[in-house]
Amino acid sequence: SPVVVAIDGPSGSGKSTVSRAVASRLGLSFLDTGAMYRAMTWWMLTNGVDVDDPEAVAIACAKPVVVSGTDAAGPTITVDGQDVSGPIRGPEVTAKVSAVAAVPAVRARLVELQRGCAAHAARGIVAEGRDMGSVVFPDATVKVFLTASEQARSERRAAELRAKGLDEATITAMAADLARRDAADSSRETAPLTRAADAELVDTSELTLDQVIGTITALVED
Ligand code: ADP
Ligand code: CDP
Repeated sequence: SPVVVAIDGPSGSGKSTVSRAVASRLGLSFLDTGAMYRAMTWWMLTNGVDVDDPEAVAIACAKPVVVSGTDAAGPTITVDGQDVSGPIRGPEVTAKVSAVAAVPAVRARLVELQRGCAAHAARGIVAEGRDMGSVVFPDATVKVFLTASEQARSERRAAELRAKGLDEATITAMAADLARRDAADSSRETAPLTRAADAELVDTSELTLDQVIGTITALVED
């Protein structure tokens, strides 16, 4: 049966980069579920939904059509047919995505899409997020919980934003936001960020990307 590799962890632990590389190496599909929560948040902000009102978010979340392309060589994300891969990484969405992701109706809708992506993956899928091993794919072939020190994670995120050409004030604000978002993601009632009992813990603080990719590839091939 098709392989499902579930990768979870806090922001900046390396989930997206590592998952995509492992999927490429093994010829599997790739799914960035954070991008789906970001796309939903982008649509709400763009359409005037009060994202701090969980009831308004719960009603609105039925409307947008979120589609994730799962090719590891070039993942895509659209909302109502529009490419939103750029705007979903901006500070406005980043500041509000945890609030939107805490609403159970949003999660129910996106979890269904995520399972659909896995069901349609020809050879299997590497899916990354916060609740892949705990909720979405409890029977995953391999589960990994990626962590890194808060300092390593915020330094990586800052370096990435600097390379993108963002100004220092925005970078500092987004780095500060990382700790707040992780606390919110870990303490919410529905599907909080937690390591599943059967997930392999990999601390990436002192590892290179190649080392992490090699470790996880080996777990899948085992
Ligand atoms: P996440 O998806 O968990 O938020 P990313 O994959 O986006 O994390 O990684 C955040 C940044 O840190 C990226 O710029 C990535 O290249 C870098 N990075 C990830 N893992 C490592 C590592 N082990 N060593 C050095 N840099 C890393
Ligand atoms: O890239 P980064 O780690 O900063 O975040 P992301 O993976 O793009 O996820 C953005 C946000 O979506 C997280 O902070 C969570 O609030 C939410 N999320 C979630 O609740 N469940 C998931 N499976 C994935 C993301």
